[in-house]
Amino acid sequence: MKIRQSLIRPLVHELHAYVPGEQPKIKGLIKLNTNENPYPPSRRVLQAVKAAVDGRLRLYPNPTAQVLREKLAKLHGCQAENIIIGNGSDELLALAVRAFVEPSRKPAAAGRESEATVQYFHPSYSLYPVLADIHGSAKNAVPLPADFSLPDVRQLQRAGEWDFHAALTFVTTPNAPSGRGYATAALAKLCRAMNGVVVLDEAYVDFAGEHAMSVALKYPHVIVSRTFSKSYSLCFQRVGYFVGHRKLIAALDKIRDSYNVNGLGQVAAAATLDDLSYYRANFRKIIATREELSRGLTRLGFRVLPSQTNFILAQPPGNALPASRRQGRLNRSSRRDAGGTLTARDWLQKLREKKILVRWFNQPEVKDFLRITIGTPAEAEALVRAAKAILR
Ligand SMILES: Cc1ncc(COP(=O)(O)O)c(C=O)c1O
Repeated sequence: MKIRQSLIRPLVHELHAYVPGEQPKIKGLIKLNTNENPYPPSRRVLQAVKAAVDGRLRLYPNPTAQVLREKLAKLHGCQAENIIIGNGSDELLALAVRAFVEPSRKPAAAGRESEATVQYFHPSYSLYPVLADIHGSAKNAVPLPADFSLPDVRQLQRAGEWDFHAALTFVTTPNAPSGRGYATAALAKLCRAMNGVVVLDEAYVDFAGEHAMSVALKYPHVIVSRTFSKSYSLCFQRVGYFVGHRKLIAALDKIRDSYNVNGLGQVAAAATLDDLSYYRANFRKIIATREELSRGLTRLGFRVLPSQTNFILAQPPGNALPASRRQGRLNRSSRRDAGGTLTARDWLQKLREKKILVRWFNQPEVKDFLRITIGTPAEAEALVRAAKAILR
């Protein structure tokens, strides 16, 4: 039966939804496309979750995830009131837009545009613009330099595109999809220059050299976002958290669902914090594999960007073009170019035929690259072998 389009808000009808990475169920697939951790949760975590699966499932979970917040407060040297838990950090990013940004699609009153602006660097996490669109607020996507480094305040002032009064600014640090890490001192400097709320999205920070928790604990308008998904092998359970000033946290708390974090997720995350040495050993393994894989692909002619995350951005050989030629090329189809070189998109397909799934983004800045999640050493070796075979 046909449905009247007018039943759905135009904003939703026109929305370009976020596209998550594929989760195909193909036997023997090496899955390096969604930055999941190749190692399972610790045995203690699995035991804690299993022990919680009984008649208590009929009860609502703790509405504020109190035990987990207290443990996290101890870990980060703050109070439980500085922390809010979400159904994945994605939920909290959405709550931040709703709590701090005016939903104004109409031209704002002169001088008040910033109140309705969600700001972020481009490229970074592709969910931010979708959240702004859902809310009906304005977006200010400011391009990163070609090397994906963090522009300093003076550069931003000079270029004139950055809005120092934006209601909400997201900074993905380390950056995704480039993997580039940012120095805490540089982030602090940027935060000091901002008037609105700044969320430092540290989804991948456990694979980096430094983190910016001290910045969130020092400046009342700065929040750090963390997740149990990547470094703590808990994507399935959906648990993330924000750390920030108690007044910002209280504002987010006001608008969340009463039972936003499911009980088994709370149990799993709390048990994770009792077994940090297991996870820290995994971070070291993943970092070692990242460096080994980067060397292996570089030897084959890939250009691999330095990474502080659990993924790498790698440009397949023969795919590097001078910037002046790149734009024209990007506008053409992604089939082999005139010289017979495989494009990054071709590589995605060729690797898939060899049962290795990586990610490719159809965005001008990263279209020539593959984003490859760091798996086990055996998976990295399989990828290098497959790349060699494709090059042959
Ligand atoms: C930069 C960034 N932030 C946040 C998230 C969301 O993580 P979660 O699983 O906690 O919702 C992701 C997931 O891909 C991410 O890449």
